[in-house]
Amino acid sequence: MTTPTVSASQRLPPGRSGLPFVGEWFQILFNPRFGAERRAEFGPVSRTRLFGRDMALLAGPENNMLLFRGEHKFVEATWPASTLKLLGPNTLSTQEGELHLRRRRLLAQAFRPKALVGYLPAMQSRITAAIEHWLRRGELALYPEIRTLTFEIAAALMMGARERTDLALVHDFETFAAGLFTIPADLPLTAFGRAKRARRRLIAHLHAAIDARLRSGETGQDVLGLLLAARDDDGSALGREELAEQMLVLLFAGHETLTSGLTNFCMLMAQHPAIYERVCAEVRRVTPEGPLTVEALARLADTERALAETLRLQPPVAAAFRKCIRGFEVEGFTVPQGWLTGYRIRDTHRDASLFEEPGRFDPDRFAVFEETCPHGRVHAHAHDGRYLPFGGGARICLGMEFARLEMRAFAALLARRCALALAPDQDLTMKQVPVPRPRSGVVMRLSPRT
Ligand code: HEM
Repeated sequence: MTTPTVSASQRLPPGRSGLPFVGEWFQILFNPRFGAERRAEFGPVSRTRLFGRDMALLAGPENNMLLFRGEHKFVEATWPASTLKLLGPNTLSTQEGELHLRRRRLLAQAFRPKALVGYLPAMQSRITAAIEHWLRRGELALYPEIRTLTFEIAAALMMGARERTDLALVHDFETFAAGLFTIPADLPLTAFGRAKRARRRLIAHLHAAIDARLRSGETGQDVLGLLLAARDDDGSALGREELAEQMLVLLFAGHETLTSGLTNFCMLMAQHPAIYERVCAEVRRVTPEGPLTVEALARLADTERALAETLRLQPPVAAAFRKCIRGFEVEGFTVPQGWLTGYRIRDTHRDASLFEEPGRFDPDRFAVFEETCPHGRVHAHAHDGRYLPFGGGARICLGMEFARLEMRAFAALLARRCALALAPDQDLTMKQVPVPRPRSGVVMRLSPRT
């Protein structure tokens, strides 16, 4: 793409373009320090190139807020061709403007506080079963186990799966996810081709779940049931095709992210036994046994801080891309229409001017943060662009409260039951793509707490 003409009074951001065509793709994706290095060299607004397109790199909380305010006005979401083709046009992530806002209001009906109360028993029973299974095995790599668990919970609540989820479905979902960021060549042996076929089977499964629910005449109180009953501003329901695609995007958006958050939480708890002890003591005091309640989980302040700090240190989504639909000004520079841009969560969370010793795991830093937060308590909202694991603005994570609930339920049930010890000699350096998690998958020795 060529840069539109910029008048003499307008200044383009400084920067560099990298290799022909791919630009600085490799550095952007695989160098976790790329943003920080660019900022040190060129300041908070700089330019790079990615697959033949200019891109404005913005840094700092004010610029994050600028992009949040600019959603649908001067920026909109953008995805690689493979993702667009696999997600399809009828999903919240790929819808734009007024349609996006209307669909959000409709889908949000399945994520209201009252709905979440109804999801907690399914979360608790699946997490408890998984933890008991892990305790029987003693030593295991947690990442794949947690991946299956988060999928099972999502499948129970979104596809109406009653028993332990069919492994073929888990496999199809993984094949689908593996094709999302690939070259979109639809051939029998390519990752994209396999993902497309897995998508067809997943959509067929979702259609069958929708039809069975409609035939039964009862919608039910899970995500599928609430979305079948949900109505748009003008009173219309989602069509069968769109409902299935929207459910698929909910599965996609929630699965890897939660898996990363929970795996990293377990690792950090094992590495910081004093903090895990505080979490366990708090859980013993507030909710030592029996069914979990939303009210009790909301009283787990130390647990919440440990989870919030996990998402600060290793945010499951490192950054979000946008394309500029109308030129805008930032810090004296012009970002022309057609450029890519985005906000960078990981770089913001690692900014030493915002978080002291940003590489250190310190849940207590949120005690100070809470005092300055307009919401009073640790709150996952990006209230001032500093702490944004769930993004911000019109595209703030739709499943944020669902995710926070599942993470708190998991932490409480783990703390009730398990002592944690990392197995020796494992590679705990972080892999960043597609979500951050340790290379070893976190091999853990779990034993019952005495
Ligand atoms: C969007 C993070 C869990 C559904 C987002 C965004 C972030 C995010 C950063 C904004 C992306 C952007 O600005 O382009 C996370 C994290 C999670 C999590 C860290 C777990 C720890 C979930 C879950 C669900 C979900 C469990 C569904 C049940 C969505 C959807 C969007 C989204 C549908 C798109 C919203 C829109 O475009 O309007 N998430 N997410 N997420 N998330 Fe999550």
